[in-house]
Amino acid sequence: MTKTASNLQIDSARLWGTIHETARFGATPKGGVRRLTLSAEDKQVRDWFREACEAAGLELHVDALGSMFGLRRGRDMSKPPIGLGSHLDTQPTGGKYDGVLGTLAALEVVRTLNDAGIETELPLCVCNWTNEEGSRFAPAMMASAAHVGDFTTADILSRKDAEGVTVAEALEAIGYRGETPVGKQKFSGFVELHIEQGPLLEAEGKTIGVVDSGQGVLWYDGKITGFESHAGSTPMPLRRDALATLSEIVLAMESIASKHGPNAVGTIGEAVIAKPSRNVIPGEIAFTVDCRSADADIMDALDRDLRASVAEIAARRKVDVALDLVWRKEPTHFHPGFVDTIENAARTLGYSHRRITSGAGHDACNLNTIMPAAMVFVPCKDGISHNELEDATQADCAAGANVLMHAVLALAGVAA
Ligand code: GLV
Ligand code: MN
Ligand code: MN
Repeated sequence: MTKTASNLQIDSARLWGTIHETARFGATPKGGVRRLTLSAEDKQVRDWFREACEAAGLELHVDALGSMFGLRRGRDMSKPPIGLGSHLDTQPTGGKYDGVLGTLAALEVVRTLNDAGIETELPLCVCNWTNEEGSRFAPAMMASAAHVGDFTTADILSRKDAEGVTVAEALEAIGYRGETPVGKQKFSGFVELHIEQGPLLEAEGKTIGVVDSGQGVLWYDGKITGFESHAGSTPMPLRRDALATLSEIVLAMESIASKHGPNAVGTIGEAVIAKPSRNVIPGEIAFTVDCRSADADIMDALDRDLRASVAEIAARRKVDVALDLVWRKEPTHFHPGFVDTIENAARTLGYSHRRITSGAGHDACNLNTIMPAAMVFVPCKDGISHNELEDATQADCAAGANVLMHAVLALAGVAA
């Protein structure tokens, strides 16, 4: 059969090969990846990606926050490209697929179109967004948020990691502070492929998740100020223990999220005792909170309930608790036309599929606020992600990349 746009398939082995080739950059002994944004390992994968994009004929440029854009010309250059891609940074103990699949599948789509000699009507733009994960610099998805105007470039450049290194310094250190002003690369729309990072597709035996919505996110920085004192000689009723206070807050978060569930989650993922010592009652603790729901009213209720609980616990324990909301991202409702296009591609290719809400945040959620966007999910083993055990099958990754390609071909059009 001759290769036409309608029966085109990506090269599954080539995609699988690139996923495993790039997993070397930051590989951990347990089979995961540690590639914090703008680290030396991030530079390695970026250099690899730059070379691969250029070898595929893409015109690569980098914006002032380090996001990478590889342009494939279309027949009609008067219109902005359809964007496709994701991110190459990972969690401190991340896996091989979160973000990587979507970015390398975008490259694979271009390689496949090149091999088949297919020109699209609109241009295409393969993207690697800086700091999707948010574990080194907050907030998550900060480059796409700046791209859509939620933050200024100067604000994001001044954000610091735990060591006090700014985004600007980290970009300079790896040579990825690019010249393109943030937001200058325009798009006609954006499509992102990702692993589901949850259990639904696998449990239902479905290959493709057609993502029509995404949870909103609340991020807080918290600080508890109690009083350091002797662990042996301070009677229990006289203590102002910051760690005991945090323990109550953790349990309060759990019960508040459960009360609003199943459409709510809440997590305290970081807690640092300022001057830990076995025989000192902890006097100061910094902590973070991550709360999510796909319903904006439930987000408001989570915020109200959390603040009320924290105030009650702090007053009873005679400690100060500061709780600063550092980020609020509203729930996402992806563009109905783009969602339909993805569903049609899955149907035409014969993959089992269902509509799904994303529990995780994604750059596509930010981009959807200023352009039509949607996402494709594929299953991951046991729904596990943000973990070195994260796993997905070659067949599912290839299926996702095929749906991505056919959705992009439908949106960009095939030049006659
Ligand atoms: C991004 O990985 C998120 O926290 O959802
Ligand atoms: Mn991701
Ligand atoms: Mn992630």
